[in-house]
Amino acid sequence: MATTRQQQDRNKWDERYRQQDFAYGKAPNHFFASCLEQLAPGSILMPADGEGRNGVYAATRGWKVHSFDLSSEGQAKALQLAAEKGVSIAYQVSDGTDLGWDEASFDAIGAIYAHVAPEQIPAFYRRLDRYLKPGGTFIFEAFGKAHLQWKALDPRVGGPDDIEMLFSEDDMQTLFNRYEIIHCREEVVLLEEGLYHRGKGSVLRFAARKPL
Ligand SMILES: C[S@@+](CC[C@H](N)C(=O)[O-])C[C@H]1O[C@@H](n2cnc3c(N)ncnc32)[C@H](O)[C@@H]1O
Repeated sequence: MATTRQQQDRNKWDERYRQQDFAYGKAPNHFFASCLEQLAPGSILMPADGEGRNGVYAATRGWKVHSFDLSSEGQAKALQLAAEKGVSIAYQVSDGTDLGWDEASFDAIGAIYAHVAPEQIPAFYRRLDRYLKPGGTFIFEAFGKAHLQWKALDPRVGGPDDIEMLFSEDDMQTLFNRYEIIHCREEVVLLEEGLYHRGKGSVLRFAARKPL
């Protein structure tokens, strides 16, 4: 059952995605696309996939895509984008607790700006870990702990206001402590993603392989 916080989050995202424009654009996140290029296509889980720019991109690259997100408006936009691109994706409206997948179902996971409520972070990422096959790759980008100062300079860059929702390199190393880390760095980048990620921000980019 959805918590009050989740219901508020769902309403917020539904309202944003109800607009005609794609909030974060239709093009994939750069780091996600560059990581995907290194991998042979297989099955990929896309948590918090929003309007589907990343899941749909993966499908155009030959991946079998399963997305989920709290927002039914996000689902509708993602299915619209998939149709526009001539691909299909499976997309569940869910907080990830009721997906019904077996453990070790996916070759890769792409968690891009999957900013869930702070109290949900450990359980959310532990669940994702269980869905990844041994040897599978976890790809992640989200705002880092140093981001608030960039958002203060230019709010158009977006991102959460709550520092507990932001990530540090140590957080990622702790969440994925058994993984072989390929990339883990918080860095300042210029974001040009749709209407809501515009300008300089501090982002945590992370890619890691689950042990066999
Ligand atoms: C900043 S948006 C990113 C959307 C997409 N990944 C992208 O990069 O374009 C954050 C997304 O997280 C979703 N979200 C927040 N909490 C969630 C949860 N507990 N379970 C599933 N999705 C969640 C929201 O609905 C929203 O679509």
